Amino acid sequence: MIDREKLWRRYRRFMETTPAFRSHPQNYAKIPLLDGIVRNYEVPHVLEIGVQEGWGMLPLAAAAQDKGGTYTGVDLRITDEVRALVKEFDLQRVTLLEMPSEKFWRDGVENPFDVIVLDGGHDYLTIRMDILNALRCLARDGWLLVHDVLTFAGPQKAFAEICGTTRYGIFSCIVPLGIDGMGVAFVTDQDKLIELGVKPICNSQ
Ligand SMILES: C[S@@+](CC[C@H](N)C(=O)[O-])C[C@H]1O[C@@H](n2cnc3c(N)ncnc32)[C@H](O)[C@@H]1O
Repeated sequence: MIDREKLWRRYRRFMETTPAFRSHPQNYAKIPLLDGIVRNYEVPHVLEIGVQEGWGMLPLAAAAQDKGGTYTGVDLRITDEVRALVKEFDLQRVTLLEMPSEKFWRDGVENPFDVIVLDGGHDYLTIRMDILNALRCLARDGWLLVHDVLTFAGPQKAFAEICGTTRYGIFSCIVPLGIDGMGVAFVTDQDKLIELGVKPICNSQ
């Protein structure tokens, strides 16, 4: 198990040193939310698109590790800060991929993820493409989290169109997390995703 006290000391340091947390300390609520959702699974497999400096990666990867699961992070650039965090906490079963999400999805995902966090490209077409691919790669009882649905037009519109209706077999809500808002969605009827042109990989396993 990862040392919880050390983790929380590190989270507090994020809060004190990160402008986004200092100006809006309520954004810090993202950390326990991510931690709690991942710990919900027996052996969680987690994917995050958009890693940046690792504020999301640390709770996601630490919780996955504690439960014997995996964390995969995709970003245009994997920073030294992120690699240092992996080292500092000796995070195991972490895969960091430096590439656009388009390439990650195109390369093919073989096993579904239990938790997928989308926080990469925020323009409408990119986040729409990320949401559709994430729905395809989500495990049967998986959760999809879309960050910034209250503050950015792209995630807001794409999340509302795809996840904000039960037409495609998706239930969703928006958690007014900090100022950014986190869209939370889960699929109740995989077969209905076909109306979105999505064929879930978990249906073929
Ligand atoms: C808002 S930040 C992510 C914050 C991070 N999730 C956290 O918790 O701290 C957005 C990140 O997405 C990355 N990004 C932007 N467009 C992307 C794309 N098309 N594919 C992958 N990553 C992308 C950027 O490089 C940036 O690091």
